[in-house]
Amino acid sequence: MNYFLNSTRPKELEAACAVVGLYDGKMLTSACAEFDELCGGAIKLLIESGDLSGKLGSTQTLFNLPGLKTARVVVVGLGEQRKFSAASYVRVLKESNRALKGTPANAVVSYLIEVEVPGKDSDWKLLQAVLAADYVHYRYQATMKAPAAPRLTALHFTAPDSMQANFTSAQGIAEGIRVARELGNLPPNICTPAYLAAQAQNWSQGGLEHLANCSTEVLDVEQMQALGMGALLAVAQGSANLPKLAIMSYRGAGDDKPYVFVGKGITFDTGGVNIKPSAALEEMKFDMCGAAAVIGLMHTVARLQPKINVIGITALVENMCGGNAYRPSDVLKTMAGHSVEVLNTDAEGRLILCDALTYAQRFNPATLIDIATLTGACVVALGNVATGLLSTDDSLANELLSAGEHLHDRAWRLPLWDEYQTQLETGFADFANIGSKGAGAITAACFLSRFTEGQRWAHLDIAGTAWDSGRKGGATGRPVAMLAHWLLGKVPS
Ligand code: BES
Ligand code: MN
Ligand code: ZN
Repeated sequence: MNYFLNSTRPKELEAACAVVGLYDGKMLTSACAEFDELCGGAIKLLIESGDLSGKLGSTQTLFNLPGLKTARVVVVGLGEQRKFSAASYVRVLKESNRALKGTPANAVVSYLIEVEVPGKDSDWKLLQAVLAADYVHYRYQATMKAPAAPRLTALHFTAPDSMQANFTSAQGIAEGIRVARELGNLPPNICTPAYLAAQAQNWSQGGLEHLANCSTEVLDVEQMQALGMGALLAVAQGSANLPKLAIMSYRGAGDDKPYVFVGKGITFDTGGVNIKPSAALEEMKFDMCGAAAVIGLMHTVARLQPKINVIGITALVENMCGGNAYRPSDVLKTMAGHSVEVLNTDAEGRLILCDALTYAQRFNPATLIDIATLTGACVVALGNVATGLLSTDDSLANELLSAGEHLHDRAWRLPLWDEYQTQLETGFADFANIGSKGAGAITAACFLSRFTEGQRWAHLDIAGTAWDSGRKGGATGRPVAMLAHWLLGKVPS
């Protein structure tokens, strides 16, 4: 999709399609009223007759209205004006883009930026409009026989040129989300640790085009052995697909401390010897969505070239069962020197992350944030609405919460109190890889906290938010939007 800013009013507009809003109670938005005037009140007549509704999220496409040089007008319902909110705006954007998929139009002009949203400015509306359009028009086709070319290729928004900088950054964020979704959706026989490591290499070596300030390093088994990454390597040993640790570095600010991100990249999670039940097991291909989010975020960063330093680390491992697989009761030696008793081979995410988090500290991070599809318990607690946020740093936690709130990619904080730490105790090692009973999302974070002492650290559990379930579901790209917005807010002005 190509995006443009455009300030043509309905009167002059010659387009394949336009999008306008209509409130419930026959309240036309200004663009809708302008089209109505041009066609001699035909839109108002349709409202009077009950053919056209302003119900929130409803869409109708009007064709060949007299007096218009625009072939189609998609009218999207905004609901009652006094109830209109940021959440309704996001919904309206999504629905209008879905309606566009049903038209043959190749180019569209949307007037929805002009809709008043309480508490939000035009920059926010434009950002949401780009993200919603990009989200809805993305289509997974990588493994289909006959990929179809999209009909709609140009989307124009009625906003002044003065918004160009924010428009560019919105497109950079949308690109990051798209990359994360595509990698998440790929099947695990293609999307192996080596494949993801190659994607991390492509990022700096010009997979898309040459991008400045980017470099990638990929560590293999021997290098990780030399570093003493006994936990990560134990998870990997049941798989024929060798593990990788990819480190993507973006340097936009000399010697400043970098913002460091660490992503869980389990390319498939069978559970290992503690094998998972077969229901929805295929969804465990999405267990690398934390790594995909990190790679996506690094695409946003490379595209926008902000004046900060950013490092994205992805721990890329397949968790299989097999003759050489690690087992329950194994005691592992982590890079940090702690011994860990494996009480469940399905709690593998924290085992690969702990070594990656230890490795990350050599970069002297300004902040250290890990992103992981870590626990089913987080899905039980928060469903697929909020990402779980756990942190020992209140100010970092609050910054991430408000970035998520602003972008409508929200997180909710769970406690990380010391009282939960005792659940990890065992008589056979420094601690175990699982808790006892209850609070599974919290005890997983407790485990990670033992490898991030002294850091400004936050953990994002995206088990419920990284993908939509079912045959027609797929990766969502969350929480790239939240993280990108937070990170871009760190650029010194
Ligand atoms: N990748 C899973 C977590 C998960 C499960 C994400 C379902 C999304 C949907 C993780 O590796 C896992 O298996 N966690 C276990 C931990 C348990 C053994 C302590 C879980 O949540 O059951
Ligand atoms: Mn698991
Ligand atoms: Zn997992």
